Amino acid sequence: MALAIIQLDSANPRAHGYAAVIHKIITDEVNLSQRSLREIRGLIAGKEVLLLLNGDEIVSFLFLTPLDKKLMEIHSMYTLPQYRGQGYMSKLLEHSIRTFDTKFFAVTFHEHTEKLLSKFSFKKVPFAVLSASAKFTFVVNRAKLHRILSVVSFMKKRRPIYLLKSD
Ligand SMILES: CC(C)(COP(=O)(O)OP(=O)(O)OC[C@H]1O[C@@H](n2cnc3c(N)ncnc32)[C@H](O)[C@@H]1OP(=O)(O)O)[C@@H](O)C(=O)NCCC(=O)NCCS
Repeated sequence: MALAIIQLDSANPRAHGYAAVIHKIITDEVNLSQRSLREIRGLIAGKEVLLLLNGDEIVSFLFLTPLDKKLMEIHSMYTLPQYRGQGYMSKLLEHSIRTFDTKFFAVTFHEHTEKLLSKFSFKKVPFAVLSASAKFTFVVNRAKLHRILSVVSFMKKRRPIYLLKSD
């Protein structure tokens, strides 16, 4: 496989195509909270989308959103079903930790994600450990009707788990 990791941006000639693929994946995936195509394009414009590619095909992606100067949120982690359990998301996580000189934060409703992130020294924390500006950005990022509905629907089944990687 010809694997490559790229930080997608709007100048990439395939940016529109990748945005459409990511939008379709998220729409069909029950474990990810929903995003409009416009939001995904906004994330790409902000260089918040990391892709693991096999040639031109997306194998895995994750989003990395700065919450304050020292903290990035990792979210919407996804690997195509046929590629799962082969270490591809771990490669994207390793790359992120190596590339960005920051602490990392993640929120999940899923034990499998908690287990995966704990391998990278993420620890459970209360939401209160975030700075005021990080909390504000986190909440503003979710203040869209479809995002709130996703969170409410997950919270009917499980409590959120807040995870921080600080070293
Ligand atoms: C969670 C997810 C991104 C992991 O991606 P991945 O590329 O399979 O990750 P890795 O191969 O690096 O494996 C990490 C862990 O995934 C779990 N895993 C292994 N095979 C799996 C499979 N077939 N399906 C799901 N999870 C599997 C294991 O816990 C594995 O850890 P292990 O190696 O100690 O057994 C992927 O399963 C996925 O896209 N799931 C659907 C979307 C989702 O739940 N996203 C997270 C929302 S918070």
